[in-house]
Amino acid sequence: APIQAPDLGNCHPPDDLPDTAPDVNCCPTYRPGTAIVDFKPPPASSPLRVRPAAHLVDKEYLAKYEKAVALMKALPDHDEDPRSFAQQWHVHCAYCDGAYDQVGFPDLEVEIHNCWLFFPWHRLYLYFHERILGKLIGDDTFALPFWNWDAPGGMTLPAIYVRESSPLYDERRSRATLLTSHRSRWTSTTMAPTRPPQPQELSRSMTTSRSCTVRAIYLAGVIESVPHGTVHVLTGDPRQPNTEDMGNFYYSARDPVFFSHHGNIDRLWRVWNGLRRGNTGFTDPDWLDAGFLFYDEEARLVRARVRDCLDTAALRYAYQDVGLPWLDFKP
Ligand code: C2O
Repeated sequence: APIQAPDLGNCHPPDDLPDTAPDVNCCPTYRPGTAIVDFKPPPASSPLRVRPAAHLVDKEYLAKYEKAVALMKALPDHDEDPRSFAQQWHVHCAYCDGAYDQVGFPDLEVEIHNCWLFFPWHRLYLYFHERILGKLIGDDTFALPFWNWDAPGGMTLPAIYVRESSPLYDERRSRATLLTSHRSRWTSTTMAPTRPPQPQELSRSMTTSRSCTVRAIYLAGVIESVPHGTVHVLTGDPRQPNTEDMGNFYYSARDPVFFSHHGNIDRLWRVWNGLRRGNTGFTDPDWLDAGFLFYDEEARLVRARVRDCLDTAALRYAYQDVGLPWLDFKP
């Protein structure tokens, strides 16, 4: 049976934190009895949000993005507005560190990593996050940037995240990711034109395990461990006990760069689907009907399923076309 949307009234402090983690309760705002609405795609006539490569954006875009994140950070926190930045990172923490039990299976936790829920769950998470940001600045064309780490120009931490006074800054990051001289470290560990995957390799690397309860990394799709996990760990601060913020599940979405890292992961999922020429992947209802809950830009609680997110055009967003320098690489 598919994983059902969790019962928010039955959220508990996460079970799966490492011993050295801070005390963190990532349960979202929830008032018992809150109505849950089923996901509906945005009207087909609504504007297409085109997500730009983070290293290519102009000043005007940056000003909008910073303003939106600043407004999100200024929303009243916990127990107040589920769209606040703190609530937003809590969403990720709750779905990945065992804060929810599977409905009907009190001994099984909900976990959306290392399994076939990884791509769709993160797609939906970004979808709602992006729309909240757009709403806060009154711009229904606003799109999150993506960290284009699969192209030479994007292999270092995008400059827009570096300025200390910016709302996009996070002090718990590796100093090394700021330096271009570390590019070789990136190229050897991420997909890069110096050693790119072939389409069939990409396809292999996208294949992800069905099991969400087995936490073995070797079962996970290769994209999920490298480069996804690698970029997390290289971005986090090695002086922190668990490479916080980016280098672990519970704190990673505290760093705004999380959302552009996942933009690129999502973009590559789309590329992969494109390479498979219309064969859209799993048809198993256990996957298609797996459901999750998110708060939308109006702070409504929405139940979305995997099948709701498979078509990005229907979700009214796309990615700036920056090419795929590794696709035709001949070793
Ligand atoms: Cu949910 Cu990049 O992790």
